[in-house]
Amino acid sequence: MPDIDPSLEKLIFNLNTLSELGTEITSANDFKRIVKSSLFMVMGSFSASKGVLYTYDSERLLFSPIASKGLTEPAGGLRLSATAMKGLAEHSRPIDLHSGESAVSLLGQASERLIRLGLKVVGFLVVRDELLGMIVISGNVGGEKYSNYDLQLLSVMAQNIAFSLQSHSLLKRLMQKYNENKELYENLRRIYYDTIHAFAAAIDAKDAYTKGHSHRVATYSAVVAKEMGWSDERIEGIRIAGLLHDIGKIAVDKTIINKPSGLNGHESVEINSHPIVGYEILSKIKFPWKGIPFMTRNHHEKIDGTGYPDRLAGDDIPQGARIVTLVDAFDAMTTDRPYRRRLSFVDAMSELKAHTSTQFDSDVVYSFVSVLKKEATGRAKSSTILPLLDEKLDTEKVSVFLKELF
Ligand SMILES: [Fe+2]
Repeated sequence: MPDIDPSLEKLIFNLNTLSELGTEITSANDFKRIVKSSLFMVMGSFSASKGVLYTYDSERLLFSPIASKGLTEPAGGLRLSATAMKGLAEHSRPIDLHSGESAVSLLGQASERLIRLGLKVVGFLVVRDELLGMIVISGNVGGEKYSNYDLQLLSVMAQNIAFSLQSHSLLKRLMQKYNENKELYENLRRIYYDTIHAFAAAIDAKDAYTKGHSHRVATYSAVVAKEMGWSDERIEGIRIAGLLHDIGKIAVDKTIINKPSGLNGHESVEINSHPIVGYEILSKIKFPWKGIPFMTRNHHEKIDGTGYPDRLAGDDIPQGARIVTLVDAFDAMTTDRPYRRRLSFVDAMSELKAHTSTQFDSDVVYSFVSVLKKEATGRAKSSTILPLLDEKLDTEKVSVFLKELF
């Protein structure tokens, strides 16, 4: 085997180190490990026994050690003046701390500190004139002087490490921004829901008998929509519509809402205006979900076209409104009202059955009953509707009753 020229052998070794450095830097390993092994590779390549890798914090004008090897005392941080930093950022060439170059004087007391640590050569980590850190190594163990070629190699290695630092800090900044935005979004979301719940409470507060009505309509609507195969996003929309469906009642006189019996013509007109008033209010709000204003406007329509305010029939009534209509009626029947006591569950279900396909959409009724059957037989993941009723029910009897009725 022919002898290889020692300088060629060194070149091959250095190329190998560079390629390993590149592989390490671009690997998906954790950042601290990358930094450490990058430093070790550079030290190995130059046969240096000591080395430190510093990152630079431009706000604090401070170099902080993130990896070190072979030192007998902690590397510690190095603070430099802003002018020195500016000068160093323009200085991409590595410097020998004993050379007396102008860059050494820029380092000032920091250079004395580095020399005291037994270090000799500084490679600056610069990307597009931005100083990101520096790698500092001792002289080689053989005591040979570093050649110009060595310094050039250190410069290339430093460049590689600088890119790695930059992408890490970009990622860090990106993550920080993402987390800030996420927090902001969560806060907005909380405020949004709190506002909607406050509205729902304000609506229910107008009617002494309908405490919790909006919440129950919201919950029932969501369960039925899920049973009908709606997406999570649409379900969220109908939940909000359930909370706000009676928002138009805010404009109706409280004495009319709470009147125990027979409304006169004027009073009926006023109370029947609440779906349109609600629509007027909600259509001005830019909801992230579609259809909320119309679910509100059309929650008193009847499937045979005899409801109000638009006298829509069948599929012309939005499906969401058909769901809200049914559960609204169910909750109204199963809770006490100013003019009557609540109906029993059995009577309320018989009423729903009697008005299926005239007042209520049969598909919606079917889905509602399907949920109730699952809850009564324990096949539902968790019961939602039955526990909210004021009546203590024998689930077995409910199951048999529903089977016979539907
Ligand atoms: Fe209503």
